[in-house]
Amino acid sequence: MAAADLPGVLALEQELFPDDAWTPEMFAEEFAQPAESRLYLVAVNDEGTGGPGAGEGRGAVTGYAGMLFPGGRQADVLTIAVAPGHWGRGIGSALLAALVQEAGERGCTEVFLEVREDNPRARGLYLRRGFREIGVRRGYYQPSGVDAIVMRKDLR
Ligand SMILES: CC(C)(COP(=O)(O)OP(=O)(O)OC[C@H]1O[C@@H](n2cnc3c(N)ncnc32)[C@H](O)[C@@H]1OP(=O)(O)O)[C@@H](O)C(=O)NCCC(=O)NCCS
Repeated sequence: MAAADLPGVLALEQELFPDDAWTPEMFAEEFAQPAESRLYLVAVNDEGTGGPGAGEGRGAVTGYAGMLFPGGRQADVLTIAVAPGHWGRGIGSALLAALVQEAGERGCTEVFLEVREDNPRARGLYLRRGFREIGVRRGYYQPSGVDAIVMRKDLR
């Protein structure tokens, strides 16, 4: 993810997470963190450049994902999102696979994530990619009060 991708990312963020979308300031703060502690990826449409959400010289953002490396052998998926018009084509799976691969290359042995209890699509994606449900955080998502399911994938 580069600065030029941000308009497209922010538009998707608003569309997909209307209750708790990240702001430009939140992304700026993330980009200011040391490179070894974060990884942000985008999927871009390479069927021509330009158009809505397109960064300079590249295609429109169709998805993005972020990972936190807090230190030690753990990695946390921070976000993963795909433009609704592009769902079901493997972009979400590809982004997740890229994050998990990078976690392995950085020496991590386990990957954690939280997913809304009422998001069967994402939960299914993670379960089929080797994540296991290990706990529940009651009322984690605010203001909705929806529970978070905590999932873990063992990389060893
Ligand atoms: C969850 C999300 C990232 C998945 O992205 P995607 O690009 O559609 O993912 P994929 O194309 O790799 O498909 C994932 C699975 O959904 C299945 N799927 C495809 N279309 C589907 C549909 N209409 N309904 C339910 N599942 C569907 C796919 O077959 C695939 O199943 P598989 O795991 O057996 O291969 C995307 O739906 C999204 O951005 N949702 C809103 C934001 C969100 O919930 N993010 C996750 C927060 S934890």
